Amino acid sequence: MASKWERGEVTVGVLGAGVMGRGIAQVAMQGGMQTILFDSAEGAADKARGFIADMLGRAVERGRLEAAEAAAANARLELARDMAALARADVVIEAIVENLEVKQRVFRELEAAVGDDVLLASNTSSFRIASIAAGCRDKARIGGMHFFNPVPLMKLVEVVRTPDTDEAAVEALTHLGRHMGRIPVVVRDGPGFLVNLGGRAYTTEGLRLAHEGIASPAQVDAIMRDACGFRMGPFELMDLTGIDVNFPASMAIYDGYFQDRRIATYPLHESLYASGRFGRKTGAGHYRYDAEGNKQAPSADLAPGVAPASRLCLAEAEQRLEALLQAAGAELTSVDDGDVPIVAAPVGEDCSAVAARLGLDHRRLVGVDMTGDSGKRLTLMTAPGASLAVRDAVAARLCETGAAVTAINDSPGFVAQRMLAMIGNLGCEMAQIGIATPDDIDTAMTLGLNYPQGPLALVESLGAQQVLRILGQLQALTGEERYRPSAWLRRRARLGLEIKTPDAAA
Ligand code: NAI
Repeated sequence: MASKWERGEVTVGVLGAGVMGRGIAQVAMQGGMQTILFDSAEGAADKARGFIADMLGRAVERGRLEAAEAAAANARLELARDMAALARADVVIEAIVENLEVKQRVFRELEAAVGDDVLLASNTSSFRIASIAAGCRDKARIGGMHFFNPVPLMKLVEVVRTPDTDEAAVEALTHLGRHMGRIPVVVRDGPGFLVNLGGRAYTTEGLRLAHEGIASPAQVDAIMRDACGFRMGPFELMDLTGIDVNFPASMAIYDGYFQDRRIATYPLHESLYASGRFGRKTGAGHYRYDAEGNKQAPSADLAPGVAPASRLCLAEAEQRLEALLQAAGAELTSVDDGDVPIVAAPVGEDCSAVAARLGLDHRRLVGVDMTGDSGKRLTLMTAPGASLAVRDAVAARLCETGAAVTAINDSPGFVAQRMLAMIGNLGCEMAQIGIATPDDIDTAMTLGLNYPQGPLALVESLGAQQVLRILGQLQALTGEERYRPSAWLRRRARLGLEIKTPDAAA
């Protein structure tokens, strides 16, 4: 017989009626479960009830919910006067203030207030569940349920398992998540759980590119949106979530992984934090915002202002580049007459490396990134000392395709390849250290961060060998641990295996 968890016939207690608590209560109510909400602040639970009723009312007005369903959901909510009322729940989800000592105390109080068979879960973003449970008698029934804001719109919930969490409790919380209309993924307890850890690659590599002077924030953002299909660039994302939130989170996760350089952030991040430029909420962060909240960004587009180059020399055969240049109306030659602009489509290499490898005049060499969607935006790259006149003449030719052109400084992997390789590598590392299964890593990253593809699917579509090559070149050039490929990636690339192939032993 299916358990009460499988049937969704359980009562859900929610502790804390703030932004997250009220959202968690709402999805429990809409999932057909009796819900008991408690908040220690006078009037907070009442306010949450009003907020939820408004949300459901709006859904009815928009035709997304039947009026009868909204009424039934509202009727499932009960407000508690004290913690003792949560004893009637089968599970209590804690969503109170993000303070470890307060959470530890509240979990001990909860343990005393409810029966032994009631599951306890925390929605914390930054603490380990094991730390919160540290002072509790029975740790087997304690896990995490990490929701995303705004809860009713964000489908993902991370079900967090500590070394002590009972398997049956993990299963029960997973069923509960499903009955709340979420997509649960089971993740290991640790800094940033899955999504907040996985998200470090995108923001920190964006910062690294700006730090090195390869590209400006506006250029990185435009490339990631237009060529790679991300809804927002890393700098726009940091400004939206708030530097006051993401800088300390970055540092905590970095320290939590004992300073793994692959997730290190850069001084620009701290500078903004220190000066109170928190992003949209303060009117300035990486960008400035006007009174209406419109972003004031410098253009990411190169305006060549010179005549398009008519003849171009292809440094080496590359079909996509050849087709692109032909579509742009260029006459192609393979003979370098000492005067003609030379174009290449490096993967992993920078222009300096291509020039050295092929014995080319680096002043006339222009790299074109053929990663991603070349219809909207193309990235051009040149070596130090390159002729800007040559670069602009190539850019003017490429503008004939209708795409915008962004010009950056020399970098193995341009912007797009670097960013994607770092996202993919961190995804591989999360698989290697068992944060979650490869499928769940991809599900969580696409649902939690709106990525166009999960990190492992990304590696598959770029090709594991290519990703390894990009990282290898970055590591060779910089000599840095930051670009160290995950063993997961190396093995699968070496054996030519699908990137999601699990390790053999369970
Ligand atoms: P919030 O400040 O909106 O709400 C917290 C609520 O808890 C307040 O209503 C407060 O009165 C109540 N509270 C504080 N101490 C209490 C106690 N001892 N007993 C009962 N109620 C108490 O905070 P928010 O944003 O809802 O965050 C709650 C938790 O969810 C935090 O742990 C946070 O890290 C986590 N979280 C927040 C996300 C977000 O985007 N806001 C996303 C995911 C998790």
